[in-house]
Amino acid sequence: MSFTVPEPCTSRLNRCELAVPGSSPHMFEKAAKSDADAIFLDLEDAVAPNDKAQARKNIIEALHDVDWGDKIMSVRINGLDTHYMYRDVVDVLEQGGERLDLIMIPKVGTASDIYALDMMATQIETAMGRKKKIGFELIIETALGMQNIHEISAASKRNESLHFGVADYAASTKARTTSIGGPNPLYGVLTDPAEDGSRDFHWGDMWHYAIARMVVAARANGLRAIDGPFGDFSDPDGYVAHGNRAAILGCEGKWAIHPKQIPLANDIFTPAEEEVAKARRILEAMEKAVADGAGAVALDGRLIDIASIKQAEALVVQAEIIAN
Ligand code: GLV
Ligand code: MG
Repeated sequence: MSFTVPEPCTSRLNRCELAVPGSSPHMFEKAAKSDADAIFLDLEDAVAPNDKAQARKNIIEALHDVDWGDKIMSVRINGLDTHYMYRDVVDVLEQGGERLDLIMIPKVGTASDIYALDMMATQIETAMGRKKKIGFELIIETALGMQNIHEISAASKRNESLHFGVADYAASTKARTTSIGGPNPLYGVLTDPAEDGSRDFHWGDMWHYAIARMVVAARANGLRAIDGPFGDFSDPDGYVAHGNRAAILGCEGKWAIHPKQIPLANDIFTPAEEEVAKARRILEAMEKAVADGAGAVALDGRLIDIASIKQAEALVVQAEIIAN
């Protein structure tokens, strides 16, 4: 292990993060009663320019008046390149009350973007005597943000999570997409011809690099990695497939852009009972091995070692957080 140990951010259950437009207050109560672990009330791309001011008011009111239970509450502010952002931050942090946990910062490009927002949040918190320190969720969704992801992740103690904003990322990188977060049937490989001349086409995951890179930057800085939107809310199988591959790479949650996607995300990011039972058996077997002075043992015909303990512990801890 390196002498540098990443400091974990505040631990929160973040399996499903539901996007709710701030300009649609009729959706707030239903969202509050949903099973999403986290909600972000949007001031950015789901809100038309003429509705921004009213959306801010709706959000501030709802943060006080709606019973959000124990959900993680976040507000997505506008980008630093717009003139809406400073007003979003000032109004929401000054008037939003203590129920707000996080602000979500879209299209982060450099560590200085985070520095600027940290400065604003710190001034407002001090001036207003806020008790709860606001955390930051950062959307990585531009080529610049992906290039600078490591510095961005380390830019503030307020940082809690990185989110992959696949729609804007595709636009920024000029990737060819057919749907938000989905695959492109042209992205794949053709196998060599078989004896009869036939060939198979295997679809590839065009977002693999981006998600894997985001997970590395997040984990190296003690942050959560969260997969972003899957636009086709009438395709639960597609959502599950994409959520699973993000979970397997290390993401611990995914956005829902429609209530139908909430149970799917919860299911994907809740470790299965068999997996947890196996993790507990690994911990028991390793405890015994360590007591016997061994570094590795066989369980069910497979090698397990000290690294297996860490994986198993992480799984058991996650299962316990979900159960409580
Ligand atoms: C989310 O903001 C996205 O652009 O996918
Ligand atoms: Mg976006």
